Amino acid sequence: MRGPAPDVVATAALVRAEAVGSADWADLADRASRCTACPELAASRIHVVVGEAPPGARVLLLGEAPGAQEDDTGRPFVGKAGRLLDRLLDDVGLPRAEVAVVNVLKCRPPANRAPKRDEGTRCRGWLDRQLALADPCVVVAMGLSAVTALLGRVGTLAAARAAGVHELDGRSVLATYHPSAAIRFGPRGAPLAALREDLARARELAAF
Ligand code: URA
Repeated sequence: MRGPAPDVVATAALVRAEAVGSADWADLADRASRCTACPELAASRIHVVVGEAPPGARVLLLGEAPGAQEDDTGRPFVGKAGRLLDRLLDDVGLPRAEVAVVNVLKCRPPANRAPKRDEGTRCRGWLDRQLALADPCVVVAMGLSAVTALLGRVGTLAAARAAGVHELDGRSVLATYHPSAAIRFGPRGAPLAALREDLARARELAAF
């Protein structure tokens, strides 16, 4: 597979420099809110959904990209998938208010189309700086986009999940299903049980 085009690499480097310059989460949020690295997304978005990181959060949840409700409100995971996620977090004793929640892409792809690879490349500097600033000990990558963004090409999500706890820069990484998959497969589907189990595992690993 060919690498990104030179203009994408150049824009990604500018984003990274801007992100690395941010002193703290609020500064990063301010800088990211003005990002125009992906012209199509910048033109169609309402909000840049930077994400949330309560001080001292030991678990960070990583999703794919904001949807319509996230774009409207500026907050990650507040739609249907977010409500399921909140319920599962409560079930396992990991309050949403104590976990960091971010997405691979900070802007909503129009009509919820899948993120493009170049968008992920351009946006990556923000995510890397968020990981450094939030400094969680456990990252839960939800869905194949999030898993691939962190761990590279892993084959299937099921295979990445079955491989157990991954390690990245001294953090534990769990590969699991996206809450949307849990909704799609229904209450008796494997993704819901797996996601609940993996959130419980994240809580254990973070030793709440
Ligand atoms: N799906 C995601 O991946 N992220 C959100 O913030 C909402 C839905």
